[in-house]
Amino acid sequence: MAKPWATFGVDLHLEPAGPQLRRGLTDALREAVRTGRLAPGTRLPSSRALAADLGIARNTVADAYADLVAEGWLTARQGSGTRVAERMVVSPAARAPRPRERADPTYDLRPGFPDLASFPRTEWLRAARRALTTAPYDAFGYGDPRGRVELRIALAGYLARARGVRADPERIVVCAGFSHGLKLLGAVLRARGIRTVAVESYGLDEHWKLLGAAGLRTAPLPFDRLGTDPGVLTDPGPGEPADAGAVLLTPAHQFPLGVPLHRDRRAVVVDWARRTGGLVLEDDYDGEFRYDRQPVGALQGLDPDRVVYLGTASKSLAPGLRLAWMVLPPQLAEEVAAAKGGVDTCGVTDQLTLAEFITSGAYDRHVRSARLHYRRRRDALVAALAARAPEVRATGIAAGLHAVLRLPPGSERPVVQAAAWQGLAVHGLTAYRHPDAITEPPMDALVVGYGTPPDHAWSGALDALCATLPG
Ligand SMILES: Cc1ncc(COP(=O)(O)O)c(C=O)c1O
Repeated sequence: MAKPWATFGVDLHLEPAGPQLRRGLTDALREAVRTGRLAPGTRLPSSRALAADLGIARNTVADAYADLVAEGWLTARQGSGTRVAERMVVSPAARAPRPRERADPTYDLRPGFPDLASFPRTEWLRAARRALTTAPYDAFGYGDPRGRVELRIALAGYLARARGVRADPERIVVCAGFSHGLKLLGAVLRARGIRTVAVESYGLDEHWKLLGAAGLRTAPLPFDRLGTDPGVLTDPGPGEPADAGAVLLTPAHQFPLGVPLHRDRRAVVVDWARRTGGLVLEDDYDGEFRYDRQPVGALQGLDPDRVVYLGTASKSLAPGLRLAWMVLPPQLAEEVAAAKGGVDTCGVTDQLTLAEFITSGAYDRHVRSARLHYRRRRDALVAALAARAPEVRATGIAAGLHAVLRLPPGSERPVVQAAAWQGLAVHGLTAYRHPDAITEPPMDALVVGYGTPPDHAWSGALDALCATLPG
């Protein structure tokens, strides 16, 4: 099993169990020190933290550390933990590639991930055991293309309560991630004769590509100090989307800029959809993580016949689950289910487990504790910037798992490059700008995913970030 070890960018190829596991871990760590990927003096995570990260026994990690201390690769001292030995001389041939060539960053602050090390393994296992024990035998056949009914019922209740979604299990279709849902919707929209989907000026290239692959043109909406401006749907200027049949938005927390869709503009977009028969695709990717106020309710609640709500477990639990859901107008629910191929394409055990996880209250508990965890990280980020890079302003920090750090004009590229040289992976805002965005001048900024590093790498990542920021 290959385990990416995000802290040090070390790929560990471990056998599932037994003595091979300890040897595999020891070899991988030794190789990382030998080749310089773990620099002299680097502090290793505690055996407890690394064991939790890798999902293996603590003793296995402790034994591997002890072997490497005995061989002289590591040192262990009371109070300063386990470190890579300072005197280790890395042979030039084995030296790590120069930082600019690095494939694996030492620290990763790219947005898009929750803290994978805090996946609630024990509670998930408990839910899986219960779900499997109580599942009817027909659950193991070819399923309803909309997904397991237990999950659709659980989601309908949860989304109504937590996100203000008007949900009926009949209108829910489970899919393998938001991107799968968007792909299905793209095919259905194109089959309905739609040619253009309006999108936000800043967003994810992969999503625009998915729509493009379905034969749809994406046309960006302007972005101003109030956020995305859907007014041009009704009153388009030159180069603006005049013929859009649908619009893709992140209303609760614009990705990546972080502002909610202004309340007047929420009404504008729903009015447009009602008048023209258009559809609003609401990407609610991190709606649960709002820190300072009540969460912004879903736009779908304003008109469930014109707004398609899309939610995902990728931020609230883990992207590897590949579980997401759409709440659709009735006719569209049938078309999307048909586009899924007539059978369920999402695994039944994960669906039943998520249903049990939600109905038992474990999902709410997990979201509550994750919110607290990320809020602390956000506060630490803001405090570190105030102390060490006071010129840099963080925006979009009221919610979500990422912040936008505004930089002086012209400095985005050099900062991203300097970060890469230091082994810190971070994205510039330019990567999220739609190629046809025409209305506002490009902004220089970093998009910093503060959910990504596991706990033991967080303060190192923050130090590395502050060290690369201007003054
Ligand atoms: C804007 C946005 N939408 C949706 C998603 C979720 O995508 P998926 O459910 O395919 O993992 C992400 C994840 O990074 C995202 O950033």
